[in-house]
Amino acid sequence: MSERVKYILDEEKIPKYWYNIESDLKEHTPEALDPETLKPAEISKLEMIFAKGCVEQEISRERYIEIPEPVREAYRLWRPSPLYRAVHLEKALDTPAKIYFKYEGVSPSGSHKTNSAIAQVFENKRCGIKKVATETGAGQWGTALAQACKMFGLESRVYMVRCSYEQKPYRRAMIELFGGTVIASPSTMTKAGLAILEKDPYCRGSLGIAISEAVEDVIRYNEDTRYCLGSVLNHVLLHQSIIGQEAMAQMEMAGDYPDIVIGACGGGSNFAGIAFPFLGEMLRGGRKVDLLGAEPAACPTLTAGKYAYDYGDVAKMTPLMKMYTLGSSFIPPAVHAGGLRYHGMAPQISNVMRQGLMRARTVEQLDVFKSAITFARSEGIIPAPESSHAIAAAIDEALECKKRGEKKTILFNLSGHGHVDMSAYIEYFAGNLANYDYSKEEVAMALSCLPIKD
Ligand SMILES: Cc1ncc(COP(=O)(O)O)c(C=O)c1O
Repeated sequence: MSERVKYILDEEKIPKYWYNIESDLKEHTPEALDPETLKPAEISKLEMIFAKGCVEQEISRERYIEIPEPVREAYRLWRPSPLYRAVHLEKALDTPAKIYFKYEGVSPSGSHKTNSAIAQVFENKRCGIKKVATETGAGQWGTALAQACKMFGLESRVYMVRCSYEQKPYRRAMIELFGGTVIASPSTMTKAGLAILEKDPYCRGSLGIAISEAVEDVIRYNEDTRYCLGSVLNHVLLHQSIIGQEAMAQMEMAGDYPDIVIGACGGGSNFAGIAFPFLGEMLRGGRKVDLLGAEPAACPTLTAGKYAYDYGDVAKMTPLMKMYTLGSSFIPPAVHAGGLRYHGMAPQISNVMRQGLMRARTVEQLDVFKSAITFARSEGIIPAPESSHAIAAAIDEALECKKRGEKKTILFNLSGHGHVDMSAYIEYFAGNLANYDYSKEEVAMALSCLPIKD
């Protein structure tokens, strides 16, 4: 009989709680600091930037936080997402390994980002906020936030990194379709944007710059506007825990358990989403798992960054976070995986990495596309360039199993589809893409400006 390919959970199995890794970590993640006083950030100041409910989730150490019913109701549009056994990819690679992937591309925006967008917009609505501002790299987060705002009746303003704004016009159109306003960043609308453009009128932008612009927007219109972030923060990682919780139930349906769990790492939220529920199980005495984060060679935060307190943005407006960082002023090369071009890494992932509970590796841009095409041609799903970092790592692990004759079970998160990234595939097939090396001098320069010296 053929191998089973899809593991589908009933709608009733959408998790009722988000899982918080902080509850199971022996060494807690260092708290955020106020950039002016360098003391722990005060809740009242955090609530000027973020919705009250998001701040409560951010500092919580409870293991389980109840998912509000309107959020679960919205999740029903596409959750539970399917788990697939990649039987065709296994055959193509001729590997003894079993490969499973959790597919988050079925959400309205086409990626995992909607899991947190819905949750954040709901918390904003709950405390009477009317508008939210945000950044977006490749446009996945911006699309998710605009769609969530449309569902809950809020306005959205999205600062989109300029190189992605130009590379991905259809993402822009999607944000606008959902009623959001899109602004190419750096822009002339904010002091932070103007300062960057004065130095470099052709600046290609970065997530760090777009965050500065969105936060400035929120401070200016503070009465009814708050900021939403697509990754990095504890509450965003918390929201994504539904991915791993569902995957655990689906692996049980398959009668299997992963030896290796893989995710692409930009700010860290989809990796944490798939990995932390398994890590929590291991920390509570359950089965051991090997967690692997895959990041771009052009922006190697976990593998070449420094573990230090740093700003989350270029204009130094956000609270300081203890994380692996390449320096907040570092502008990564314009790889097509725009969602992975972030100088820092989620503090909780950085803490987990620091404690030796996970490993990380880099992937070159050309390997990303080669792996994406191998995957698409065997499994029939065209992946986002960001997610393809996880595919590349999964393929390498499966080939390593082949070399060693090992029958490991590999699970990776396919965080989004690449239907709106076809221009990148066109460029790849035309031979116009290259591997980018990041500038070590620029990183050293950015790291020399860390706010707290060793
Ligand atoms: C499809 C997809 N995967 C992954 C990421 C990276 O974000 P994170 O590391 O927070 O999951 C992004 C970010 O835009 C994305 O769009």
